[in-house]
Amino acid sequence: MTRASLDKKPQEVATMFDDVAAKYDVTNDVLSLGQTRLWRKEVAKAVDARPAERVLDLAAGTATSSQPFARTGAYVVPCDFSLGMLREGKRRYAWMPFTAGDATRLPFADEVFDAVTISFGLRNVEDSEQALRELRRVTKPGGRIVVCEFSDPVFGPFRTVYQEYLMRALPPVARAVSSNPDAYVYLAESIRAWPNQRGLAARMKRCGWSRVAWRNLTGGVVALHRAVRE
Ligand SMILES: C[S@@+](CC[C@H](N)C(=O)[O-])C[C@H]1O[C@@H](n2cnc3c(N)ncnc32)[C@H](O)[C@@H]1O
Repeated sequence: MTRASLDKKPQEVATMFDDVAAKYDVTNDVLSLGQTRLWRKEVAKAVDARPAERVLDLAAGTATSSQPFARTGAYVVPCDFSLGMLREGKRRYAWMPFTAGDATRLPFADEVFDAVTISFGLRNVEDSEQALRELRRVTKPGGRIVVCEFSDPVFGPFRTVYQEYLMRALPPVARAVSSNPDAYVYLAESIRAWPNQRGLAARMKRCGWSRVAWRNLTGGVVALHRAVRE
């Protein structure tokens, strides 16, 4: 069993997700107390995929995050570098064009997607700025990005309780439900080390994205950042 360190070495991250693939979705539901489903609905609204649009779901894992876009009639490409996650996804959604690829060197031509999105993935990428630049490269001018990622709860007392929940409760609960509980120690640590709402917005701007805005979900436990490629 493996867990990645905060250096986020690509091989370690991919192996860690290979290990959790089979139970990944059910563990998410349990640990988030069902909030994951609500967050996915909000991501779908923000992406607002239309029939026949091309949508890239980067770091798609098992492609559970891709389903809301696919249901609108958009052509959705789930891309990930964990073959274990892709295999699990392919078993469930055989018709989808699963693509193996690294976020920092995307295997797509320039300006091919109407929308690009990444849910709970950017935080795991060793060089997240390179991933944001790559996402921009493959987006058509006028196209949009939606990033869904853990963030900072805005209400101070809740933030304290949440951080206690994360750091103390998550690993023991994960031990009961996950095939690789150590991966959830990494999850807690990587959330703590990740920039807050403003910090991620600044990072997106630095990578060339325009009109960056965000919205908090569940009091800021998660934030949706949106922007366009001008
Ligand atoms: C927490 S999962 C999220 C999966 C899915 N988006 C969801 O919302 O359920 C993070 C995913 O990011 C992928 N990932 C991490 N770094 C990556 C990279 N550099 N390139 C491609 N995928 C990456 C992992 O393999 C993993 O499947």
